[in-house]
This record gives sequence, structure tokens and C-alpha cells, in this order.
Amino acid sequence: MEIKAPKGTQDILPDEIHKWHAVEKAARDTAELFGYREIRTPIFESTDLFARGIGEGTDIVEKEMYTFLDKGERSLTLRPEITASVMRALLEHKKTGGDLLKLYYIGPIFRYERPQKGRFRQSHQFGVEAIGSDSPQLDAEQICLAMEFYKRLGLDKLSVDINSIGCSNDNCRPAYRRDLITYLKENTDTLLGVLFGEIDNIGNKGLCDDCARRMVNNPLRVFDCKKDGCKQIISRAPRTYEHLCDDCRAHFEKVKETLELLGVKYRVNPNIVRGLDYYTRTVYEVLSESLGAQNALCGGGRYDNLAGELGGVKVGGTGFAAGIERAIMVMDEIGKKPERPGIPVIILPVGGEKAMNQAVTILKKIRDSGIPAELDYNNRGFKLLKKSEEEGWRFAFIIGEDELKEGKVSIKHLIKRDQKGIETAELEELLDSGGKDPVGILENLFL
Ligand code: HAM
Repeated sequence: MEIKAPKGTQDILPDEIHKWHAVEKAARDTAELFGYREIRTPIFESTDLFARGIGEGTDIVEKEMYTFLDKGERSLTLRPEITASVMRALLEHKKTGGDLLKLYYIGPIFRYERPQKGRFRQSHQFGVEAIGSDSPQLDAEQICLAMEFYKRLGLDKLSVDINSIGCSNDNCRPAYRRDLITYLKENTDTLLGVLFGEIDNIGNKGLCDDCARRMVNNPLRVFDCKKDGCKQIISRAPRTYEHLCDDCRAHFEKVKETLELLGVKYRVNPNIVRGLDYYTRTVYEVLSESLGAQNALCGGGRYDNLAGELGGVKVGGTGFAAGIERAIMVMDEIGKKPERPGIPVIILPVGGEKAMNQAVTILKKIRDSGIPAELDYNNRGFKLLKKSEEEGWRFAFIIGEDELKEGKVSIKHLIKRDQKGIETAELEELLDSGGKDPVGILENLFL
């Protein structure tokens, strides 16, 4: 039986990998420009970390985790996100007591979701986390960082949606939550639900079954629902940012003010609540109109209670994660093609064993000079040059019987369609003198 890659996973083949390298380079360069340093954490963690960090009632923890028992009967989970792991690592290494820590990561996450365009079971994130500060300027800086990352990838027509979901003080989110539940109760058993809703549950007209459940456990999650009936009801619901306590309101105002100072365009969207329980105050998403239903390129926010949830001392934190597959999908869609680094030189030995030996020697010299080079190991000869464009070859070094006899190499410029003979000793000297632009030296032969 043919074995295939598991559903919802993808192979990244060599003709696609340059796009990944371009995105990863933009991610690293941008994060480092903003003062972030890389952190790497394990791909699997104790299941408890995510249950406590992300929250028992969330879709991720309830339905989407790849959880297994190892041979020592420990319950482990393939990480469905990386923020909880970063916080766990910092707490474990006692790094959270001092100054602000700014960290970034690039790596895979795993969620048992229904695969569709832009949604995978193994996907990859570039994320940043800043831990050790309540500063609203930091939230704004990270949104600015995300936009700089996308700018470097050539992505446009993006929008930044922000919101604040307040804090756990009783007069802030808990009070809002009570108001929201009252509103949902009042509005789901009425005609409104019948008019707009999908009436699959007569007891909860208007709200879908999932939301009827969320209304009790996690009412803010109703804002995430994509079903028309729920969307209609939620469009009239009380808004989080109108119910913030004074401190959270001031914090949100500062985030917005700083975004303006930084020249980042945004809109306040009360429907952004985010699907992970650890969020407090600022939440945001970067959306692209080139993606379909899964239009979030990036999501993040503040999580001032996460350290406490994981048993540490309370410390402010804020971050985002950007889906790499989704960034590449938008690049493909709008025709942004990152440069594919080629191998400029191919050596063709076309004179038997001796030519092959000479080719191996010259190949080493070319590579020593810093020029990426390849050799026709399978003796395909000139037929191989059909692949020049695909491989990015600019020069074919030909070593045949004549060249061997004369102590020469023939260099064919595959783009200019010109050919030159050069003595082997002279070629070696040229390569030795190559300095910072050894390929330029070969180009100069054809001026
Ligand atoms: P998230 O919104 O769950 O947040 O994921 C962030 C981004 O990862 C999404 O906007 C999307 O681009 C990508 N993503 C997530 N799941 C999938 C999937 N199944 N297939 C393809 N792409 C996906 C988090 O993960 C938080 N940890 C972000 C964060 C960091 N908040 C604070 N710090």
C-alpha cells in the first residue's frame, strides 16, 4: 500500500523551499531589528501546560490537541501553539524576575483541525513574545513589527484589527461577561433568533449548538463564530471596549495612540476576542483579503495572567504568532516571487575518466573560491544543459579531450550564449583573486 503524508500535513519540496527561506529570513531580520532574540523550546510538552495555559474550555484544548501517553505513561501533547511553551521555559529557568525579555521563534505547531485552504494539522509559526512589561507601547511595537515583516515579504492590502478584552478585575471583564450573558439570554429565545438564526436547537434560537454551549462556559467565544445567526446576534451585543475598567481603558487608548505615532493603520473591531483563554487587554489580528475564510495572517495580544496560571509570579506579557503557510499563500496569490538562489556553475566532463578527474579538481577550486558549483556526475553531457534555467546555472565549464590536451577549460556563458577558452592555471589564479565577488570575475570574462 502506498504510504502518504498524514492528512493536513504538507511536504515542502526543494522547488518551494526558497519561499520558506525568504519568509524565515524576513522573520529573523525583522525580529532582530526590533531587539528580539531567538528561543527554541521542545515540540512536545506536558499536556497540563496547554490545558492550564490555553484553557480547558477552548477549542484547541477540547478538540484539537495531539495528545499521547509515552512509554512512561506521561501525558504529552504536540504543541498546538508556542506562547505557553515560552512562558514555561522562562519560568523554569527563573528568567521572569528581572528585566523585559524579548524573544522570537519559528517552528511547527499541531492542531487536529478540519483541513481546508490555509488550515493544516501541522503548520508553522513565526512568533514574538515580550515578557516582563505592561507597557502599551510594547503592544503597539509588536503590531508594527508584524507589519514590517509583511512589508518585507511584499504583502499589501492587509488590515490590522484591534480590540481590548480587559482584565480579570471584577469591574472589568467579569462584569462585561455578565452583561454579555444577559444579552445573549435575552436575545436568543426571541423572534430575532428565528429571523436570523439557524434554528437547529429550538431552545437556543439564533445561536448554533456550539455557541449555546459557549454562552455558559466561555461567552466571549461566541464572537468567533462564523455562522450567520450568531453573527447577527453578536453584531448588537455589548462591546468589550465599552466596558473596560479605567486602567484597561487607559491602556487601550495608549496602544492606539502609539500605533498612530508609529504610522500603523488599524481599526477597532469588537469581534476580535481570540480563541485562547490567556489573553488580557489588547488583542489583535492582521487580516488579508487574499485569504478566504481563514483570513487571519497573524494573531496576538497581551497575556498578563499566563505566568500566574502556570504557577509563577504574575508578570506582563504580550506577543503574536504569524502563520508561515498563510503568508506564503498570499505571496503566491499576489505574484510575489522571492528570488531562488541558483548554482551559477555546472561542470561537464566530456572526455572520459581523465576529464572527470580534472573536473573534480576544478570543482573543488571553484567551491573554495566561494562560487556554488555542481558537477555532471551522471555524465549526461550537453543534454543536462536543458535544466540550466531551472537550476540557475549561468556558466558551463566544459572539459573535453581537446581541453585536456591544451591544458584548458572552455567556459560557456549560458545566458549570453558565448564561449571562451581559458588556461587552467590562469583560471586558478583568477579564482584565487576573486575576493568578495568571485562570480563577478567569471562575468568579467565575457564583457
Ligand atoms: P493563533 O491565532 O491561534 O494564535 O495562531 C496564530 C496564527 O497562526 C494564525 O493567525 C494563523 O496564521 C496561524 N495558524 C494557526 N493555526 C493554523 C492552522 N491550523 N493552519 C495554518 N495556520 C494556522 C496563537 O497561536 C498564539 N500563540 C499567538 C500569540 C503569541 N499570542 C500571544 N503571543
